[in-house]
Amino acid sequence: MGERSCLAIVLAAGEGTRMRSSLPKVLHRVAGRTLLAHVIRAADATGDVKVAVIAPPGQSGFAEEANGQNVPVSIFQQKERRGTAHAVLTAKEAIARGAQDILILIGDAPLVRPQTLQRMRDALAVGASVVVLGFRAADPTGYGRLIVRGDEVTEIVEQSDASDAQKKIDYCNSGLMALAGNKALAILEKIGNANTKQEYYLTDAVAIARGMGLKVAAIEAEEDEVRGINTKAQLAEAEAVMQQRLRAAAMDAGVTMLAPETVFLAADTKFGKDVTVEPHVVIGPGVTIEDGATIRSFSHIEGARIGKGARVGPYARLRPGADLGTDVHIGNFVEVKAAQIEAGAKANHLAYIGNGRVGEGANIGAGTIFCNYDGAAKHKTDVGKGAFIGSNSALVAPVKIGDGAYVGSGSVITRDVPAESLALERSQQVVKEGWAKRLRELKSLTKKGGKS
Ligand code: UD1
Ligand code: MG
Repeated sequence: MGERSCLAIVLAAGEGTRMRSSLPKVLHRVAGRTLLAHVIRAADATGDVKVAVIAPPGQSGFAEEANGQNVPVSIFQQKERRGTAHAVLTAKEAIARGAQDILILIGDAPLVRPQTLQRMRDALAVGASVVVLGFRAADPTGYGRLIVRGDEVTEIVEQSDASDAQKKIDYCNSGLMALAGNKALAILEKIGNANTKQEYYLTDAVAIARGMGLKVAAIEAEEDEVRGINTKAQLAEAEAVMQQRLRAAAMDAGVTMLAPETVFLAADTKFGKDVTVEPHVVIGPGVTIEDGATIRSFSHIEGARIGKGARVGPYARLRPGADLGTDVHIGNFVEVKAAQIEAGAKANHLAYIGNGRVGEGANIGAGTIFCNYDGAAKHKTDVGKGAFIGSNSALVAPVKIGDGAYVGSGSVITRDVPAESLALERSQQVVKEGWAKRLRELKSLTKKGGKS
């Protein structure tokens, strides 16, 4: 089937006032990805999809976010909120371009799976003109109810228009729908607003299509999949569902997790084979972890690549641009940002490595700081292959440590160090033999003197 073209219309015009946020609702994130991006990507995964986003007037950030998903997107503004069918018709121009399948998706329902959207498109492909996505609601209050006869949906009745008997029905409308592209405008343009709220209800498409002698099908989804987000508490619930899915997928792909419920992943986290993630690890967006790598407890990682066989943590922090080669060791209380750490290099304890390169097999001692910032600009530190940086050294960028060079402990290095040499920058050690013994003797004398 995959050959059919599709227009996915994403309704995102809700004000989202209950989020109590200056950020538009659909630009909030679940597993590091905006709600809008989740929905666009789920649609895109079903193949040959163009997207139309229905945005509210006067809110910014929609176009940038939508366009960042590598899917053709156009943005339409719904100037007045006059109902879900009115919102869909805002994209009339896109509908008129004639995609075979129209998917209508809700921008604040990011948990919908591509497989479910595919089932909706498949139902269109075998002759339905309208496909409603339904679910069994634990508490149906507030949802439109699906009125079914046999395996057909005859009508959707909104809560505010439902009889007492209809209010007892738990089979509910998720709000997601699919329409046959060649029938969509004819159906949508017949929808009126003669209801309690005087809104143009998309749900009326069901009765109208039936009146036109067209087939209406329903597909059932899990309630979790169609959960809408209106509050921060619901955002956290969606996060929990998404995290469970991501952990399950990671373990399916072979990742070992001792306490998966304590590991947080991002929607785009990529794992190789035989990766182990210990308890209490947080992984943000843009992370790739290659074969055989181990992430130890309490590490926080974002925007980083972790090469084959590398060991990270416990208590490591990898920030964007951290690029760890094969068998690199990054130990406790080490922070790495915008730096390449080449194969076999080690920074095992207490260090800051920012804006630089650590060459193959180099050793960064405890307490080493890459002083990358001079108050105005960031500069680069380059540590050569096999170099050894003694503990508690400050490398003041821009600076280069040559291949195989040594930096003595406690040095503040401000000038380049040639390959294979030693740089030492600290005062001469002074030793006063017998001094401590003499001090103790002097103290005991004064003590005795004090008593008498
Ligand atoms: C809608 C459905 C209902 C379903 C429920 C699921 C209709 C008439 N009713 O009801 O059957 O059970 O969703 O959550 O469709 N929107 C716009 N512009 C508008 C109106 C709505 O963009 O003018 C968007 C909203 O931002 C929201 C979505 O459409 O994302 C649904 O609208 P909402 O007002 O929440 O509809 P419900 O009354 O919840
Ligand atoms: Mg709603």
